[in-house]
Amino acid sequence: MGKMGEEKKSGGCMGWFIVLIVVGEIALALALGFTLRNKFHHDDDGDSPVPRPPGPVAQKYGDALKIALQFFDIQKSGKLVNNEISWRGDSGIDDGKEANLDLSKGMYDAGDHMKFGFPMAYTATVLSWAILEYGDQMNKANQLDSAKDSLKWITDYLINAHPEPNVLYIQVGDPDIDHSCWNRPESMTEKRPLIQINASTPGTEVAAETAAAMASASLVFKSSDSTYSNSLLKHAKELFTFADKHRGSYSENIPQVQKYYNSTGYGDELLWAASWLYHATKDQTYLDYVVGSNGETYANWGSPTWFSWDDKRPGTQVLLSRVSFFDSKAATDASLKKYRKTAEAVMCGLLPKSPTATSSRTRSGLIWISDWNALQHPVASAFLAVVYSDYMLTSRTQKIQCDSASFSAKDLRKFALSQANYVLGDNPMKMSYLVGYGDKYSQFVHHRGASIPADATTGCKGWQWLESDQPNPNVAMGALVGGPFLNESFVDDRNNSMQTEPSTYNSAAIVGLLSGLVTTSSVATSFT
Ligand SMILES: *[C@@H]1O[C@H](CO)[C@@H](O)[C@H](O)[C@H]1NC(C)=O
Ligand SMILES: *[C@@H]1O[C@H](CO)[C@@H](O)[C@H](O)[C@H]1NC(C)=O
Ligand SMILES: *[C@@H]1O[C@H](CO)[C@@H](O)[C@H](O)[C@H]1NC(C)=O
Ligand SMILES: *[C@@H]1O[C@H](CO)[C@@H](O)[C@H](O)[C@H]1NC(C)=O
Repeated sequence: MGKMGEEKKSGGCMGWFIVLIVVGEIALALALGFTLRNKFHHDDDGDSPVPRPPGPVAQKYGDALKIALQFFDIQKSGKLVNNEISWRGDSGIDDGKEANLDLSKGMYDAGDHMKFGFPMAYTATVLSWAILEYGDQMNKANQLDSAKDSLKWITDYLINAHPEPNVLYIQVGDPDIDHSCWNRPESMTEKRPLIQINASTPGTEVAAETAAAMASASLVFKSSDSTYSNSLLKHAKELFTFADKHRGSYSENIPQVQKYYNSTGYGDELLWAASWLYHATKDQTYLDYVVGSNGETYANWGSPTWFSWDDKRPGTQVLLSRVSFFDSKAATDASLKKYRKTAEAVMCGLLPKSPTATSSRTRSGLIWISDWNALQHPVASAFLAVVYSDYMLTSRTQKIQCDSASFSAKDLRKFALSQANYVLGDNPMKMSYLVGYGDKYSQFVHHRGASIPADATTGCKGWQWLESDQPNPNVAMGALVGGPFLNESFVDDRNNSMQTEPSTYNSAAIVGLLSGLVTTSSVATSFT
C-alpha cells in the first residue's frame, strides 16, 4: 500500500501521441458510425466528467503486466509464429487429426500438456474482458497487441473445435496418458485422444463458456477484423443455443473430466454466456434470458460467491452491473438491480473494513480460500474489484453501502492494489509469486517445459527432470504459481504442484488485474 498517491489522477498529459490516438478514435468513430467511447477523468470531486485518455503508466504494474503476458507464449501449442521464447518450439501439430480437424493451436492448461476446453474457454473470456475494459491502458503500456495475439491463439482453436452447431471438441489429450510422461511439449509422442460433446452427450457448462469466450472476443476484434469478429459471433450464438437447448452437465455426462475440472453446475455459465451475447449483439432476447426465469433459477441473488473457472456468478453480476451503471433505460429492471446488489455484496465481502468482510484471509490480508492454487481467488476477486471501482468512477457513483458502512471506488481500488502488491512481493515470504518479476520468485515451477533443457532427449520418461534438485533450466516467465498456504508459507519444490504449478486461467486474471492498475482512465461506457 502507500501506493494510492501515484495511482491518483493523472494530470494533463496530452502529448502528441495521445492526441493522435484521440484523433484516430474520432476518425474511426465517424467512419464507422460508432459512438466515441466516453473517456472520463478519474476524480471524485463532483464536477462534470471530462473525456480523458489513459494517464501515465505506473512502472511497477507495467513491468508486471508485460511479464505476465509472456506466460501465454509459453503455453502455446501448434506451429509457433514469431516465437520469442528460446526454449519453446512447435508442438501438438497433429492434434485433432483423428477427427480431420486442426486442433493444433490453443494453449496447454498448466504444467502439463492437456488442452482442457472448459478452463481454456474461461481464460479467453477473462482475457477478452480485460481487453474490453482496459485495452486503452494496455495499449499505453505497449501490451495490447500481445494480449490480442494470445486471445486469438485460443479463439482460433475454439473455432476449429466447433465444426458443427451441436458438436464441440472439449478436450485434447488424456490426462492419465499425459500425466504418465514428463517431457517437453515439443517431444510428445504419446496419444492425444479427443473428446467431443454433442446433442446426445451434451455439456452445457463448456458449450456456454465457449460461447461466452467467442462472444466477448467478437467484441475485441470488431474494429480490427470484422470478418473474424462476425465468425466468432456466429459460433457464439450457435454454441449458446446448443448449450441451452441440450442441457446437461458435462461432468456428469463425461465423468472422466471430474478429476480435473469438475463443474458444480451449468446455470452460471448459461447466465454468463447470455450476458456476453447481450453485450456483443445488444439483442434484447439475451437480456430477457438473464432477467427472466433463468435468473430466478440460477443467479442465486444476494449470496456472494468466489469467481473462478467453475463459478461465473460473480463475473456475471459485475458484467450485468455494467448495464445498470451505463444504460439508464435497462437499469430500471428489478432483476438487473438484484444482479447489481449481489455484485455489491461481493465487493463488500472483499473490503477488509466492511462489516460483511469475509474472514477468508491470511494474516497479512490476502484473500485465501484453498490450498490448491490459492492465488486464483484473490487475483480474480481483485480484478472484479478494480472493474467495479472503475464503473463507479465512470458513472460518478459515490458509494456502495455495506450494512452500516459505506465505501468508495477508491476503497475498492485500494483492495485490488493490496492483492496485486501481495502477489508481487509485499508478503511475509518477501517473494514474488509472478515468475520473472522481482529478485525472488519460484525456481522450481511445476512445469514440464521449464524443467527440461531444450536440448535434452527424454522420450516420455524424463522423470529425472522432475526429481532434479537443481532450479528449472528455463524460466517460466509470467507464470503465476499456485501461491501460499493460509499460514503464508510457500515450499518451492517442483513436485509441490499445489503451490508451484501455474495455470493459463490464473494468467488471464492477473493480466486483467494488472491492466486495471497499470494506469487510470475511465472504463469504456460501451463496448463498441
Ligand atoms: C457424442 O459424444 C459422446 C461423448 O464424447 C461420444 O461418445 C459419441 O460418440 C458422440 N456421438 C457421435 C454421434 O459422435
Ligand atoms: C464432482 O462434482 C459432483 C457434484 O458436485 C460430485 O458429486 C462428485 O463427487 C465430484 N467428483 C469428484 C471426482 O470430485
Ligand atoms: C510427486 O508427488 C506425487 C504425489 O503428488 C507422488 O506420487 C510422487 O511420488 C512424487 N514424486 C517425487 C519425485 O517426489
Ligand atoms: C503452514 O501450513 C502448511 C499447510 O497446512 C503446513 O504444512 C506447514 O507446516 C505450516 N507451516 C508452519 C510454519 O506452520
